[in-house]
Amino acid sequence: MKKIFLFCLMAACFAACQQNNTQTTVVEQPEKPSTPLQVVNDTIHLVQPDTTLTASLMHTLAHRSSIREYAETQLDNETLSTLLWAANGINRPENGKRTAPSAVNAQDIVLYVTMDLGTFIYLPEKHALQLVSTTDLRKPVASTQEFAAAAPLSIILVSDLTKFPFDDPQRTTLLGAMDAGYVSQNIYLYCTASNLATVARGTMDKAAIQQALQLTDKQIPMLNHPVGYIK
Ligand SMILES: Cc1cc2nc3c(=O)[nH]c(=O)nc-3n(C[C@H](O)[C@H](O)[C@H](O)COP(=O)(O)O)c2cc1C
Repeated sequence: MKKIFLFCLMAACFAACQQNNTQTTVVEQPEKPSTPLQVVNDTIHLVQPDTTLTASLMHTLAHRSSIREYAETQLDNETLSTLLWAANGINRPENGKRTAPSAVNAQDIVLYVTMDLGTFIYLPEKHALQLVSTTDLRKPVASTQEFAAAAPLSIILVSDLTKFPFDDPQRTTLLGAMDAGYVSQNIYLYCTASNLATVARGTMDKAAIQQALQLTDKQIPMLNHPVGYIK
């Protein structure tokens, strides 16, 4: 009797296992939305940034590198939105603080995005891009390094030295350059984690950029980042 009971139990277990195996189905990943960038009333309204990206920090650090070749495809709204938020967006709405630190919380780094649609300033409070010039500045940004003009867009990191509560130009310029470095690293890390290509660049035609963006001598273009999908 005991033997019959054991046999039945094993048979039941085997049948259950078989059923489980046949029920295993591949869970379909929902396709990520891909909205083209669109200018409406001189503004590109960015969608909510996707803060659910799960690439590990160690994997990202292990793979960060400068990449100087870009596919022609323009970034979509979702990607540019998350890129700009990661670069220097507001991560604590209760006090308006940013993803990148800044000396004395000056929040002096202003981001401009230049592309075929024109040149835009990033407004972190609105999480939107506001048109500042209809001119595509990728060539003066690239300057002597032609590869940079081939990226679908470039981000220009400008330090507004008037945001510091002191005047000493040597001190504010140094702090502004350091603040730009943090934003630059945020761009690198997001790009690496999202399979985008970028490189930090000090090279650019600063005079042409200052003139086109109507910057004062206290608004200093510190760095730029061409960004594109990996070729
Ligand atoms: C402040 C700064 C300025 C840079 N300027 C340029 C530049 O003008 N052009 C360029 O091609 N790379 C530039 N780079 C990228 C460096 O050449 C690159 O980081 C370096 O070769 C190390 O390579 P990796 O980033 O892949 O580790 C710059 C990097 C930094 C941090």
